[in-house]
Amino acid sequence: MRIVVTRRIPEAALVELRAAGKVWMPEEDRALEPGELRKAVAGADAIVSMLHDRIDASVAEAAGPGLRVVANVAVGYDNIDVPALTGRGVLVTNTPGVLTDATADLAFGLLLALTRRIAEGDRLLRARQPWSFHLGFMLGTGLQAKTLGIVGPGQIGQAMAKRAEAFGMHVVYSGRSDPKEELLRQADVVSLHCPLTAETRHLIDAAALKLMKPSAILINTTRGPVVDESALADALLAREIAGAALDVFEREPAVEPRLLDLDNVVLTPHLGSATVETRTQMALLAAENITAVLAGKEPPNPVHR
Ligand code: DGY
Repeated sequence: MRIVVTRRIPEAALVELRAAGKVWMPEEDRALEPGELRKAVAGADAIVSMLHDRIDASVAEAAGPGLRVVANVAVGYDNIDVPALTGRGVLVTNTPGVLTDATADLAFGLLLALTRRIAEGDRLLRARQPWSFHLGFMLGTGLQAKTLGIVGPGQIGQAMAKRAEAFGMHVVYSGRSDPKEELLRQADVVSLHCPLTAETRHLIDAAALKLMKPSAILINTTRGPVVDESALADALLAREIAGAALDVFEREPAVEPRLLDLDNVVLTPHLGSATVETRTQMALLAAENITAVLAGKEPPNPVHR
């Protein structure tokens, strides 16, 4: 069995994969270019993919008729053309559950970093700016009794809600069946946790941002294209909303340049699941999905669309 791993993964998962077949992994730890990816997968029975790999019909064709499974090391799988793969009899799997807490922790950390101006204060000191304590210095806003609007009430959205409730926040939700407009009007904090699909692309656009309170902030830890990043920069510059904290970007790894200059914006480089424990569990789960399929068994986390 030939198992292609598109980018370095923790050793524990490689051990599992090596027991199931011959593993190929690039020497260099960087995203493969589309042409390199197609070349690498030739003859693969299984592919372990990353969220930056575009896996579509051309990749399946390059792999050839032996391809049986693509295991994405992520809960999101918007990088995979699932119908194109399943139509060819290739199973697609993801890694739900294991990154719920890590991602909610990061989302809540971003919320605190923004509302308590933690990143801004850190920048001030590093810039060696003079400062002194006074009662009006760098005031933020408290979270107690504020309303958190969760867009996408799945596992991560619920974990975020749990954290917010522990901080005394009131939580409202919007999902597929309930419209987001009321939530946007009501919420002091809007936190996005829906997957990226054709329906959620630019869910937060100029019109949606206009519905938010001028004192409200936006947190995005799901996928960049859920937000129209240019419309967000416009809204922040026009003070239509008070701030934003983003872990994901519309054209990752690029960031809308206007956001980089704003003090009321906190930015992190897609760190939602980035803990040693979580990334290890994600890779192990991907390996478990691969070994199950190669052994002719049902994988634990098939995705269907
Ligand atoms: C995921 O699993 O989809 C996350 O974005 C990875 O951090």
